[in-house]
Amino acid sequence: MFACRKVLTVLMILLSLKSGVRTQCVQNGSKVSCERIKQITPGFLSTIYENVTSIEINNRNEISEVAARTFKSIKNLERLTIRWSRIKKIYGETVRDLPNLKYLFLNYNGITEIYTPAFLNLPKLQKVYLSYNNLTVVRKGIFRNVTQLESIILSHNNINHFEDESFQEVTNLKKLTLDHNKLETIFLHDILSHPEKLETLWLHNNSLTFITNYMLQKLTNLKILNIGFNQISVIESGSFQHTPNLNTLVLTHNKLKDIDGDIFPRSGMDFLKNLYLDHNRLMYLTSKFFVRSSGLRKITLMGNPWFCQCLKEIYSVLNENGIEEKCQGPFSKGQRPVCVNGDVLDSCRHTYNAQLSAKFLKYMKDFPVYVHALDCHL
Ligand SMILES: *[C@@H]1O[C@H](CO)[C@@H](O)[C@H](O)[C@H]1NC(C)=O
Ligand SMILES: *[C@@H]1O[C@H](CO)[C@@H](O)[C@H](O)[C@H]1NC(C)=O
Ligand SMILES: *[C@@H]1O[C@H](CO)[C@@H](O)[C@H](O)[C@H]1NC(C)=O
Ligand SMILES: *[C@@H]1O[C@H](CO)[C@@H](O)[C@H](O)[C@H]1NC(C)=O
Ligand SMILES: *[C@@H]1O[C@H](CO)[C@@H](O)[C@H](O)[C@H]1NC(C)=O
Repeated sequence: MFACRKVLTVLMILLSLKSGVRTQCVQNGSKVSCERIKQITPGFLSTIYENVTSIEINNRNEISEVAARTFKSIKNLERLTIRWSRIKKIYGETVRDLPNLKYLFLNYNGITEIYTPAFLNLPKLQKVYLSYNNLTVVRKGIFRNVTQLESIILSHNNINHFEDESFQEVTNLKKLTLDHNKLETIFLHDILSHPEKLETLWLHNNSLTFITNYMLQKLTNLKILNIGFNQISVIESGSFQHTPNLNTLVLTHNKLKDIDGDIFPRSGMDFLKNLYLDHNRLMYLTSKFFVRSSGLRKITLMGNPWFCQCLKEIYSVLNENGIEEKCQGPFSKGQRPVCVNGDVLDSCRHTYNAQLSAKFLKYMKDFPVYVHALDCHL
């Protein structure tokens, strides 16, 4: 029936700017997309947009600015995207009082500074994307009154510091991605008012050098922790006693020489199923390590200078407990060393041999193994 067909109106609006550059916005149903807008001000979004649910601005690398409260008249707005705009600063109150806004995309802009409070009174906001910008510090209180906000994506910036209580008013945060930044340390319980709600934390590709007992405090519901691709050489004992619900722990590509079972709580990590240990400097693991991670289902081990006798013991634990090793492909074909033999011993000895370890790592560097990423996915 003709009356039931959704009639699609495509509206072309050509706005002439002072500069003479023609800015183009196209409306398709309830969505508007724009290109090349130098000044994003309330005036530019006249009342014809009052019913739109989505605005997407792609500026193709032109410098632009966003004025405070620009979007305030668009009460139905659910999705706001400003990308590739070279916006350097997000001023206070830029996005406020939008009762229906759920998703905010401000990635790929080169933002260096976000003033307080940039985002406020957004009762339905769920996800904010701020990745691929140029932030170095996250200021206190950039979010205010955003009770449903679950996910903040800050990957690929230059962040080296969070002010205390930065996300004090983000009371429902479940996922925080901070990978590819410059963090040397981080204390989530100083940043979040409800650290116990956090479930996923990405910190890979930062500059962490150690994990202390204090760092993971109060993250009692954390399920996924990725701290791979850092410079971590020490994990203090008891560190994971704060995260009893951890399901996946990624320690890949660090500088770990020695990890003992007492990084885990005495009562064990019952929910820990996936553990990435590949590409560290490990030569052995103690039996306590596996006793306290008795729920393990999958593990990666490659790229470590294991003592052959110790690796043999590890494999027997894996076999007995039905733990699957992944990511071992290129080794199994005999192309690369899997383990090192110092003195030929009958049993695994827990004494680190730095010389032998260095030799193995040099070999790995000179003859790198290109492992398909999916092979290593647990
Ligand atoms: C408008 O949107 C609909 C559905 O989202 C799409 O199928 C259609 O191609 C769009 N029209 C134009 C002119 O972009
Ligand atoms: C927006 O929606 C309201 C209610 O459906 C309607 O009265 C109004 O004319 C619409 N505005 C525009 C510009 O389409
Ligand atoms: C980030 O900032 C640095 C200096 O603060 C600058 O050199 C670099 O070009 C910026 N990167 C981007 C993508 O804007
Ligand atoms: C928080 O936001 C809601 C919805 O926008 C608003 O009704 C309420 O007054 C705000 N609370 C504060 C303390 O500003
Ligand atoms: C992550 O860090 C590692 C080592 O520091 C580096 O080799 C790798 O290229 C980084 N990954 C990305 C995507 O930058």
